Amino acid sequence: MKILGIETSCDETSAAVLDNQIVLSNVISSQQVHLNFGGVVPELASRAHLRKVIPVVEQALAEGGVCLAEIDGFAVTHGPGLVGALLVGLNYAKGVSAVTGKPYIGVNHIEGHVYSNFLEDSPIECPFLCLLVSGGHTQLVVVRDHLEYQALGKTRDDAVGEAFDKVAKLLGLPYPGGPQIDRLAAQGDPEYTEFPLGLHKEKTFDFSYSGLKTAVLTHWQSLGAAEQERHQADVCAAFQKAAVKILVKRTMEAAKKYGLKAVGVAGGVAANSGLRKAMKTAGEKRGIVVHFPKMAFCTDNAAMIARAGLERLKRGETSKATLNAFPSLQLGDARHLL
Ligand code: KG4
Ligand code: ZN
Repeated sequence: MKILGIETSCDETSAAVLDNQIVLSNVISSQQVHLNFGGVVPELASRAHLRKVIPVVEQALAEGGVCLAEIDGFAVTHGPGLVGALLVGLNYAKGVSAVTGKPYIGVNHIEGHVYSNFLEDSPIECPFLCLLVSGGHTQLVVVRDHLEYQALGKTRDDAVGEAFDKVAKLLGLPYPGGPQIDRLAAQGDPEYTEFPLGLHKEKTFDFSYSGLKTAVLTHWQSLGAAEQERHQADVCAAFQKAAVKILVKRTMEAAKKYGLKAVGVAGGVAANSGLRKAMKTAGEKRGIVVHFPKMAFCTDNAAMIARAGLERLKRGETSKATLNAFPSLQLGDARHLL
């Protein structure tokens, strides 16, 4: 089955072609219009998707060596995300589905991230524990089998990626801040100061990042200009250490409690070098296999959407032309069948 995946939920316009699990192409166009705003401006995102969606799809088809008529089905993100941005991809997919007479399926973006673990030659095997860490989500889910989820916990306030972005903005770094902090943290001293770990004393699989963010803010404001310049990398390193530590702790506790021997990490923050290293080390100590998707499949991309859509289309699920975009869609919601 050849699937064309389309992703426009936030600030990446992406299209990918899959031949079953094999990724033939995965084109990602990251919007630059938000750089001066310190975050994504929804209206600018929708307009940029409108300009990009057709060329990005054409490039994905060309790089994949297939034409539109050879596509067996379309998979498109229909939530969660920015409603205007989602509607661009969704309406494009409805259009090509109507023109070609091939089915399409609305895909949950979070489910797409889970499925980034199934994209490579040696994919993870079910059951596994999935840690979803992105700009919008921080969530622990048991993936019992394909498309079968048991949610264990999620953030009660900020997502971890959001905390990375907000701390970066505070330190005067450009958006998105995660990769900037990752880069600077490598040059800083993680022991420079001890920042608090959210909810670490509670027996829960939930997360909290607002306290950590406020602690960094308070510390940063207590420094003079010269000290801020001297310690910028140290603050990044200490913040990243705390942000990562609680993710690893919760994940290992959950794997133990549910007797799971495999962990898959997904979402933009899965690209973080500190998290990759700490999670692998913790897994090795406990005999747990830790799987990280390739870097290109960690941040938003259409290959993961096509992979999740493939699983649903194979089961005979399809979406109707009346399907809407759902900005707050949760993992496990079956709105794609409405
Ligand atoms: O999955 P994603 O591309 O979009 C959402 O679904 O949110 O994740 C984007 C998030 C941003 O917050 C970005 O700062 C973060 O992932 N991110 C990172 C790194 N690369 C991206 N955070 C920490 N370290 C990184 N290397
Ligand atoms: Zn995402």
